[in-house]
Amino acid sequence: KPGEELYVTFVDKEGDEHKIAVSKGNNLLEIAQTYDIEMEGACEGSCSCSTCHVIVEDEAMYDKMEEASDDENDMLDLAFGLTETSRLGCQVVMSKELDGLRVRLPSMTRNMQASDFSKKT
Ligand code: FES
Repeated sequence: KPGEELYVTFVDKEGDEHKIAVSKGNNLLEIAQTYDIEMEGACEGSCSCSTCHVIVEDEAMYDKMEEASDDENDMLDLAFGLTETSRLGCQVVMSKELDGLRVRLPSMTRNMQASDFSKKT
């Protein structure tokens, strides 16, 4: 049906909820940027940072999502505060199955570079 609305709720770093009506095909980074939700998206959605890290609140919903690609998993490994249901916002595309999705923004993000790994302090 044209004009059918889906809902996604962002829980921001302050714990405030933002319920937003969206269309199928939008990714969470685009939505967050359109609605002034505090999500960084340093690489503009090209799956090469981890600043768009979101935590899916509902495990059943997480299981309904398309699996993360290897690239996404590699980036998630670098995300600060990684959880079992973490995803990169720019890689999550809204679909009918995901209507009612709730995601939390981690309280800290960190755009860690590969070089940080070899650095020993
Ligand atoms: Fe960089 Fe999503 S914006 S991975």
